[in-house]
Amino acid sequence: MTELNQIYRCKICENIIEVVHAGIGELVCCGQPMSLLNEFNEDSGAEKHVPVIEETDSGFKVKVGSIPHPMEDDHYIEWIEINVDGLVCRRFLNSGDEPEVFFEIDSPYESINVREYCNIHGLWKSS
Ligand SMILES: [Fe+2]
Repeated sequence: MTELNQIYRCKICENIIEVVHAGIGELVCCGQPMSLLNEFNEDSGAEKHVPVIEETDSGFKVKVGSIPHPMEDDHYIEWIEINVDGLVCRRFLNSGDEPEVFFEIDSPYESINVREYCNIHGLWKSS
């Protein structure tokens, strides 16, 4: 059984999918069950992954992370996603980009969640 907004990855072909409608079935790719990605929220290594959110008058600036994450060809942040009261926005990034995104979203809001995906270290969320 899946839950809304969960992210799964295929261990074989590395397809990554997000659940936009939960169901009771098992997600399968390449003939095997897909793996639910954990959402990490505590940095431990030298590289920082936990998203940092700065609220401005017109939206939210999200940086990865407290020290800018590398954006090299073989190690970079693939995307940053923000969810404000169910409004979900995602910006895809490339190596060489800055590891940050500005989302123009009106306030006020009740809930905000931010996630980002590192191609090496996986899925992270704001703490
Ligand atoms: Fe990383």
